[in-house]
Amino acid sequence: MKGIAGEFQARKADGRKIAALTAYDYPTARLVDEAGADLILVGDSLGMVVLGYPDTTQVTLADMIRHTGAVTRGAKNALIVTDLPIDTYDTPDQAVASARQLIEAGARAVKLEGGAAVAPQIRALVAAGIPVLAHIGMLPQHIREEGGYKIKGRTAEEAEAIRRDAVAVQEAGAFAVVMEIIIPGLTAEITPSLQIPTIGIGSGEGCDGQILVLHDLVGLYPWFKPKFAKQRAETAAAITTAVREYVADVHGDTGMTPP
Ligand code: KIV
Repeated sequence: MKGIAGEFQARKADGRKIAALTAYDYPTARLVDEAGADLILVGDSLGMVVLGYPDTTQVTLADMIRHTGAVTRGAKNALIVTDLPIDTYDTPDQAVASARQLIEAGARAVKLEGGAAVAPQIRALVAAGIPVLAHIGMLPQHIREEGGYKIKGRTAEEAEAIRRDAVAVQEAGAFAVVMEIIIPGLTAEITPSLQIPTIGIGSGEGCDGQILVLHDLVGLYPWFKPKFAKQRAETAAAITTAVREYVADVHGDTGMTPP
């Protein structure tokens, strides 16, 4: 097996973990890339952390195309994957037509949400030569039906559905699968049973890789902090301090000359 799918399966077989992060613009993509991330996701989480919507359901294909272009200009090494936003992959043909526009904008692969339900779309994308990252467990594009970010896999029925989804996306040809907010015992059970890598978010350490929203990692979105994300920098606080000092200087409150 060649290409991205071959690389990812070899990586899993060798036990090399995948460090993935989101980025949405040129500077963040360049910083994330130069710091060594393996995979950059132009996530539709940009709807919240960049565009200020309450969730991802208002993000459009045009938004994703524009941000993919910016990320592509900044990242030279990491694999760039872009989310297909909601309502752009309702049928296999629509999925391929939408994904082609993201690939033209610079993405090397696309991600879509859902398991067995979107297997026909994954098959069509792979047949069209477009690598696919699947996404199962908690599905942010369905947040309104779900009524919040709830952990998945607690009941036997839910766990069985997640097992089925994992196998379905692998069989459809996805090169890896994001597992979002699934109970850690279940991801640890499923991961070794698959040939493709699992990339967890809020799903424990038993996955083949981890992904986080950059803003959660660096503290750039202080208004919502997922419990599972370890914040490793205080970026919002650094910006606030710099702006407050600048404003005070310009207002003449400090006696300092403004730059
Ligand atoms: O949109 C996004 O950032 C994502 C990650 C949370 C996996 O889908």
